[in-house]
Amino acid sequence: MSKKYKIACLPGDGIGPEVMKQAYKIINILNNKYNLNICYKEFLVGYSAFKKYNTVMPKSTIKGCEKSDAILFGSIGDNRYKSLNKSSLEKDSLLYIRKKFNLFCNIRHAKLYSYIKNYSPLKKKIIKNGIDIICIRELIGGIYFGNSKFKYDNKMNIKSAYDTEKYNKKEIYRIAKIAFEMSKKRKKILTSVDKSNVLKSSILWRKTVNEISNEYPEVKLNHLYVDNAIMQIIKNPSSFDVILCSNMFGDIISDECAAIIGSIGMLPSASINENGFGLYEPAGGSAPDIKNLNVANPIAQILSLSMLLKYSLKEVKISKDIDNSVKKALKLGYRTKDISNKKNYISTEKMGDVISKIFINIK
Ligand code: IPM
Ligand code: MN
Repeated sequence: MSKKYKIACLPGDGIGPEVMKQAYKIINILNNKYNLNICYKEFLVGYSAFKKYNTVMPKSTIKGCEKSDAILFGSIGDNRYKSLNKSSLEKDSLLYIRKKFNLFCNIRHAKLYSYIKNYSPLKKKIIKNGIDIICIRELIGGIYFGNSKFKYDNKMNIKSAYDTEKYNKKEIYRIAKIAFEMSKKRKKILTSVDKSNVLKSSILWRKTVNEISNEYPEVKLNHLYVDNAIMQIIKNPSSFDVILCSNMFGDIISDECAAIIGSIGMLPSASINENGFGLYEPAGGSAPDIKNLNVANPIAQILSLSMLLKYSLKEVKISKDIDNSVKKALKLGYRTKDISNKKNYISTEKMGDVISKIFINIK
């Protein structure tokens, strides 16, 4: 009997649909060769949903997600929406799903593959010991979800605005716990990022993380202020292993980590809740400038599928096989435009085919 799973696929906007198709190639192999029975169904989200249903988050999509074991997400965003609407497409779709399914834990693994180290913008001597950083980002609290408001003058122009960074102990505790557990399985070095020299929410953050650290004497805990952390990551990325951050700081730091491993098109992301239900997406955006050109890098999408198998379906071995297939494709010299010298590159589809072919034959 093969194991049955349901995945809701939300390709979204921009390059989302193109890179998602490459992940489907891997799912089809899982069904044919790995004795899995993964039923995947597509739902609209973002601007592509707005065009059809006049909403960026249709009810049918929410239902589809509710009925599934995990969500595979592409990307969202479109300037045409911004000119039509006051609301935020991102808030009403992606952030809505994160909150609705309680996906408080975001995991982004930034790994520099030695084969493409020339595409890291950092100097050779800085990356000689490699980069392998896991960002654990709190995802449904902080300034993203605190009180916020515009205030208007009598001509209805915005005269002031505010957002609020708010955390309670429970929220900090549950994300920190995951970071400590992750550290325990790795190099046992954890860096917690905050701005406790200025922000009260950060004082609570640091205090709570310190309290939990008593439960993990084997993990070496460091605290860094966010400005310093950003600087140290650029200067000495190899000294970092697991980084724990709030929603806002994690957003910024994870892009920095993506940039130093060569391309944002390489960084997958898992957003999970207490029950292991999750949404998996490339950390890069919808990249409208390269939409439909068949040049986007599908690796982040394929690695996101790998994370889905690992964290939601607990198919750890298969997840490793996918990661190894990606590694092998890079080792064999296959490159998409973003990680090439702009001459010898292959298309999005070809990269999907290459990785699939390696995956079929992997032992
Ligand atoms: C990310 C993205 C989102 C975020 C945007 C699209 C709302 O940048 O997943 O990092 O800020 O969380
Ligand atoms: Mn981001």
